[in-house]
Amino acid sequence: MEDDELYFDKFWEASSLDKFNLEQFAQSLNTYDSDDKELTLELPIKPVSIPISSSATNKIAKKRKSSREFSNRELSIKNLGRVLSSFYAWNGLEHRAYPSAGATYVNEIFCVAFNVENYSGKIIYYDPELHGITIVKDNAISWAEAKDKLNMNIEGEPNLLVIFVSFTERVLSKYGERGGRFALLEIGAALQQLSLQVAESKRLKGVAVGGMLDNFWKRELKLDRTDAHITIGYLVGQ
Ligand SMILES: Cc1cc2nc3c(=O)[nH]c(=O)nc-3n(C[C@H](O)[C@H](O)[C@H](O)COP(=O)(O)O)c2cc1C
Repeated sequence: MEDDELYFDKFWEASSLDKFNLEQFAQSLNTYDSDDKELTLELPIKPVSIPISSSATNKIAKKRKSSREFSNRELSIKNLGRVLSSFYAWNGLEHRAYPSAGATYVNEIFCVAFNVENYSGKIIYYDPELHGITIVKDNAISWAEAKDKLNMNIEGEPNLLVIFVSFTERVLSKYGERGGRFALLEIGAALQQLSLQVAESKRLKGVAVGGMLDNFWKRELKLDRTDAHITIGYLVGQ
């Protein structure tokens, strides 16, 4: 390995999904035996129950679950604003709705709007400081085409594909290899913020998309000449 090359970059390359290793990925899922799935630790001492709180956060968390069936109803601008407020910099760019190691904020949000008031057929970038959106592409991929590039089964038409794009250099330049962990943890926190936002709403539903074809989506967002890392997607529908 070259001196200036990070293991994190190698790890990223090794974990990327494209048309060449998709079959291998599918095979791994097919051969996985869920009967052997370990979901908790079974320690020799039985746990003692503790009180559970009826906090507002817990009420939302209790409602959170993934949905993969959507109606064809258009998403209003009001609800688009609600979805994207999950990533808003409420207290300035260094203090957003989710934490980030050293406030490096590697996460940038792009969306493919399939069926959204005023924005259908466009790719947008979310500005977390202004709570505003910029169109980055006018002729975005349609839902019918996008469906095949997500590797999951969806019924109906979601409104929006939120794509979490990580500019990892921001954190690697400060923390070195350990920054790679921090980048993924930050994206996870942002994903949770969105999933709770969706859970709280009576109308919205959604699901994470772990099997996106990284390079395809990077090109679709017109980021192919940048060091952007497509990390995960989240489909929002109703
Ligand atoms: C990192 C990550 C990737 C995921 N990828 C997919 C996916 O590609 N397809 C899918 O149907 N669900 C995906 N999910 C959703 C999980 O299947 C779901 O969260 C899990 O089964 C628990 O169910 P619940 O969210 O309904 O509670 C993903 C979740 C996470 C956190």
